[in-house]
Amino acid sequence: MAAKIIDGEAVASRIREEIKATVAEMVANNQSPPGLATVLVGENPASQQYVRMKQNRCKKVGIQSFGYNLPAETSQEEVEKLVSELGSDPKVHGILVQLPLPDHLDEEAVLNTIPLHKDIDGFHPVNIGRLTMKGRKPLFIPCTPAGVIRLLEEVGAEFDGAEAVVLGRSNIVGMPTALLLIHKNATVTICHSRTKDLPGVCRKADILVAAVGRPQMVKADWVKPGAFVIDVGSNRVDAPDTEKGYRWVGDVDFDDVKEVAGALSPSPGGVGPMTIAGLLQNTLRAAQIADEMK
Ligand code: GUN
Repeated sequence: MAAKIIDGEAVASRIREEIKATVAEMVANNQSPPGLATVLVGENPASQQYVRMKQNRCKKVGIQSFGYNLPAETSQEEVEKLVSELGSDPKVHGILVQLPLPDHLDEEAVLNTIPLHKDIDGFHPVNIGRLTMKGRKPLFIPCTPAGVIRLLEEVGAEFDGAEAVVLGRSNIVGMPTALLLIHKNATVTICHSRTKDLPGVCRKADILVAAVGRPQMVKADWVKPGAFVIDVGSNRVDAPDTEKGYRWVGDVDFDDVKEVAGALSPSPGGVGPMTIAGLLQNTLRAAQIADEMK
């Protein structure tokens, strides 16, 4: 039987409408609108595109967006100075430093400069630290992992005691997704480049999350029949027969896997819109926290 295709755009659109209504209510009550500052260093085309999309979505729901595009050669000191200034700017409730940063910059030191209550990416060591612990609550949960869990919930995935396999151990997706799945009582395996018998490990999964950045790597025979599969990958591949000469594909071979999986979140059209919706939710939350701190 063909898999149920999970429409991330439809779920994200519902979330955006809720946020838009809440922001409109805040403004009607004379509260200042939530504000998000984006910091982009360098000219990575994919990062430029992601940041543009985040800014556009902010504007559409009434969140103020403040964009800072810095040249690739900007020094560590200059980036940290900007982030510190944004940290004390009352119009800015959330700060997003787009990753990856150019190689000469110390990512950890930059992220440490973001005040905890403005860490809408959830990448601050204290927020990640809390995510690793039982009974602790991070102020913000990273947006893509939160989107993965929300999509699984939307299609009625059973987490309790499920075998979950996460392909990839990145700080942005793989590791926090695995932590969230543990909090939901799944038994979690994290796979990476040294994992032996990757297809065999994946085949045990009731829930399979692919976030490795390898175009269409996950094939039908890697997937347990009926499994919930979430494709987080976003890979640009050559497509000479198209106008642009390229197209975007996920880490999952969609046409192959849809015949086996129970539910499948495609890429594009699955987790991508959920990441941005999560960012808007976190920015709204940051504005509410700032209001409570007054
Ligand atoms: N680069 C890729 N995904 C993300 C994200 O969610 N946040 C930031 N800041 N950078 C990214």
